[in-house]
Amino acid sequence: MKLKDKVVVITGGSDGIGKHICQKLASEGCRLAILGRNEGRLEAVVASSLALGAKEARGYAFDLTDMGALESNAEAILTDFGSVDILINNAGIWHKTGPLDSISTEMLIATVQTNLTSLMLLTRSLLPNLRQQEEAAIINVVSKSGIMAQAGQSVYSATKYGVRGFTDVLKEDESESGVRVAGLYQSGTNTGMFAKAGEDVPNHIFTEPEDLADVVVFMLSRPPKLWMHEVRVEL
Ligand SMILES: NC(=O)c1ccc[n+]([C@@H]2O[C@H](COP(=O)([O-])OP(=O)(O)OC[C@H]3O[C@@H](n4cnc5c(N)ncnc54)[C@H](OP(=O)(O)O)[C@@H]3O)[C@@H](O)[C@H]2O)c1
Repeated sequence: MKLKDKVVVITGGSDGIGKHICQKLASEGCRLAILGRNEGRLEAVVASSLALGAKEARGYAFDLTDMGALESNAEAILTDFGSVDILINNAGIWHKTGPLDSISTEMLIATVQTNLTSLMLLTRSLLPNLRQQEEAAIINVVSKSGIMAQAGQSVYSATKYGVRGFTDVLKEDESESGVRVAGLYQSGTNTGMFAKAGEDVPNHIFTEPEDLADVVVFMLSRPPKLWMHEVRVEL
C-alpha cells in the first residue's frame, strides 16, 4: 500500500510503541488520528508527527474502556478525516506477573477491557468505513503472549490469545471486502509498559520500539498482491 496521504488511526499513540509508529508514519506523509489518555503526551506526539511530515495529525484524549467515549471519538475521527484507511490497534496494559489470585479484580477487568473489549469495539465502529476504501488494513499489535503461555501472565495472555483469535477470524470474514488484517506478535520491547505495572525488568535488552515501528511500516507498505498476515518478532 502507498502510505502517503493515508488516514491512519492508532490507539496507544501517546507513548511507547504507538508513539514510534506515529512518528514513522508521519515521515511517510500519512494523516494521523492519534489516540491515548494522557493529553500532554498526546499533544507532544501530535507536534512531533507534524514536524516529521505528517499531512495532518490530531489527538483524541479519552479512556478506551469508556464505551461512550469510544463511540463518540470514533464518530469524531470519521467527521474530522472523512474516511479511515488503516487502523492500528496497539493500546494495551500489562499486569505484574503472579498467580491468578494475586491479580486484583480491578486489574483483571481493566486488562480485559483495554486489551480486548475496546479493540473489538473500535474495530467494529470503523470497519464499515474501512470497507469503503479501495485498499484498507487493520494491524493488531498483539504480543508473543498471544502465542506462548508464559507463567504469571494469565489475564494478560488471555487477552492476547483473544486478540489473536479475533485477528484470525476477522481476516477470514474480510477476505472479500478488501480490508487486510494482520497481527504482530512481538517479544519484550523497551517501553515503560512494565514499569507502569510496578515490575522491574531488564528493559534495555529488549527490542527497541522504533525498530518494531519499522516492522509495522514494512508490513503496511507491501505491494497489493503481498500481505503479511502474521508476523512474529523475537529478540
Ligand atoms: N512493551 C513490551 O514489551 C510489549 C511486548 C509485547 C506486546 N506489547 C503490546 O504492545 C502494545 C503497546 O505497548 P507499549 O509497550 O508501547 O506500552 P506503553 O508504552 O505503556 O504504551 C501504552 C499506550 O496505550 C495507551 N493506553 C493504555 N491504556 C489505555 C486506555 N485505557 N485508554 C486509552 N489508551 C490507553 C497509553 O496511553 P497513555 O499514555 O494515555 O497512558 C499508551 O499510549 C500493547 O498492546 C502491549 O500489550 C508490548
